[in-house]
Amino acid sequence: MFGAYPAVRLRRNRFDSWTRRLVAENALTVDDLIWPIFVREGSGVREPVASMPGVERLSIDLAVAAAEEARALGIPAIALFPVTPPERKDEEGTESTNPENLMCRAARAIKTAVPEIGLVGDVALDPYTSHGHDGVIRNGYVANDETVAVLCRQAVVQAEAGIDVIAPSDMMDGRVGAIRAALDAAGFIHTRIMAYAAKYASAFYGPFREAVGSGSALKGDKKTYQMDPANTDEALREVALDLAEGADMVMVKPGMPYLDILRRVRETFHVPTFAYQVSGEYAMIAGAAERGWLDGERAMMESLLAFKRAGANGVLTYFAPAAARLLRRG
Ligand code: PBG
Repeated sequence: MFGAYPAVRLRRNRFDSWTRRLVAENALTVDDLIWPIFVREGSGVREPVASMPGVERLSIDLAVAAAEEARALGIPAIALFPVTPPERKDEEGTESTNPENLMCRAARAIKTAVPEIGLVGDVALDPYTSHGHDGVIRNGYVANDETVAVLCRQAVVQAEAGIDVIAPSDMMDGRVGAIRAALDAAGFIHTRIMAYAAKYASAFYGPFREAVGSGSALKGDKKTYQMDPANTDEALREVALDLAEGADMVMVKPGMPYLDILRRVRETFHVPTFAYQVSGEYAMIAGAAERGWLDGERAMMESLLAFKRAGANGVLTYFAPAAARLLRRG
């Protein structure tokens, strides 16, 4: 009799806005956002990043203002990335362990002005090395164990400056365990570690390298330490090791091209899992929106919701303030 008609009509639940809201399986909230900020020298300076429309390098005073804005918007945490002046870079990345470096001065200023905001500190040597690699080079190779020793000192210096979450992005083996031990030995038992656990050797970091000035200097690529985009099982091994070494949270990076990795990590380990929507992903959306090729706001929100659907507990995204403003407007 009604054989020709479907007994189940999934469109019923899509009929009006209130049912769609009731049956929604995932939601993005402001609590999911971590805002990466580029910090530069000077005062009162904001300098646009050409390949990231809407993103600027901020001097410390303006980074403090950005942190105040994040607090007002309800964003839980910001992540700091320093633009080291070229004259402070060297082969060994010595500036990374200077307690007076840009990162530490910015962290102290922000913690003093906005103590309730979470501060994530990137730990790796690439913003500080003249060759742009994430570690020290011995015989043409990024030397693992010697790099880890420097990263431990860098992590302690950052914790002393008020960084709450140490985020090693270097992909050296064994660094999470070594950093945990170094932090504990220095008395920083509450300082958390968010491991860039599955970080791929990706073309999508291009605009970031322009932003911090590590790209033009970079000789070669990072394929001997960052992961091969072909691999999935290896990502699970990376995460397992970082957790065993004491990571409190793990991250998958980049984000959108690696949602499958995010899903597997979350389902396998059931630990706080973050995605980094990296600079190139931001550039694709913001650049297309700027040209009128995409509805920028909708593409931004859809991309961020995709991370939640794939299992992320939170997202590092340059869209954080724009998304937070939209979420507040409702
Ligand atoms: C440094 C670091 C990079 C990013 C975050 N930390 C660049 C790289 O590994 O070359 C990229 C972030 C982005 O593209 O937004 N180790």
